[in-house]
Amino acid sequence: MKNKVIVTGGCGYIGSHTVVELIENNFEVVIIDDLSNSSKKTVERIHDITGVLPNFINVDLKNELETNTVFKKHKDAQLVIHFAAHKAVGESVAEPLKYYQNNLYSLLNTISAQSQNGINNFIFSSSATVYGLPETLPITEKTKTQRPFSPYGNTKKMAEEILDDLTKSNHEFSAISLRYFNPIGAHESGLLGELPNGIPNNLMPYITQAANGNIEKLMVYGNDYPTKDGTPIRDYIHVVDLAKAHVIAVKRLLNKEHEKPLEFFNLGTGIGYSVMDVINCFENTTGVKLNYEFTERRAGDVPQLYAATTLAQEKLGWTAEKGLHEMIKSSWDWENNINN
Ligand code: UFG
Repeated sequence: MKNKVIVTGGCGYIGSHTVVELIENNFEVVIIDDLSNSSKKTVERIHDITGVLPNFINVDLKNELETNTVFKKHKDAQLVIHFAAHKAVGESVAEPLKYYQNNLYSLLNTISAQSQNGINNFIFSSSATVYGLPETLPITEKTKTQRPFSPYGNTKKMAEEILDDLTKSNHEFSAISLRYFNPIGAHESGLLGELPNGIPNNLMPYITQAANGNIEKLMVYGNDYPTKDGTPIRDYIHVVDLAKAHVIAVKRLLNKEHEKPLEFFNLGTGIGYSVMDVINCFENTTGVKLNYEFTERRAGDVPQLYAATTLAQEKLGWTAEKGLHEMIKSSWDWENNINN
């Protein structure tokens, strides 16, 4: 019998890559997704890659009744990975309630439905945004968390606090919160990748769309930061490396290897690249010249963020394997694939 894992948001960017890795590691997967920022085609693409068609259920997790029904039906699952959430930082500033309602109701409905049905393992899709503006670098899991700059970020921090309370009160329930740095890249098959709805929010889809002419010009937000070339530094991580870390976290919980009821891990490479590093690497990797212009700083951006990777290495035995060149090449291949 295969272990069954429920993946909310399994048609999304990180979710879909994780579903592939789970299937390749012999897990049975049930995807719950309302397709609000993803496509049903992803399920077929997962099938094309793995030869397995995961069970797909279209449910809005804000709907408590429907959520309960699905979890009751799949009470033989051992674990839930919760990706389903809105994630656009700027939109969350403009429409905070949309973010609090969606991200928090979905979380609350998921963890109550699963625990009522005896599914007591949970992996949460968190973000380095919970560290706010860190005082020291690299960021370790002991670095103090702070109120994030956006309502989106705050839903991640609040979710971690909810999980802290839950794991303290319900001793059956265990959770791992994975704090991602900057996920980019796409699946090597060219069948899965990031599909931003409308104008992208993040650097990589902006670059690929500026390169193929979808967007006229890439705006680089600020070149007066206290960094080597004045542009902000981030820790970019390949989405497939990230997906692999989820499978390791699943096994850790199922094998009861976790040391605390709620554990936190940073997922990054530990290497910081500036926006100009990414632009230069893109041009060198693809041979395509980018049309870009320096403009004002973007509100809420911090100069530098990169992870300390020691804890994930020691406890999960996980290290990111793919470098910036590979991240960029796969993002570009994916961009060309979706436009053909
Ligand atoms: N940038 C540009 N031009 C663009 C887009 C981005 O110059 O068109 C710059 C940003 O100013 C920033 C860097 O590229 O310096 C990276 O920006 P992203 O939007 O790709 O990523 P962020 O670091 O801002 O955001 C990421 C995640 C969020 C998370 C946040 C904080 O996408 O989910 O880190 O941890 F909240």
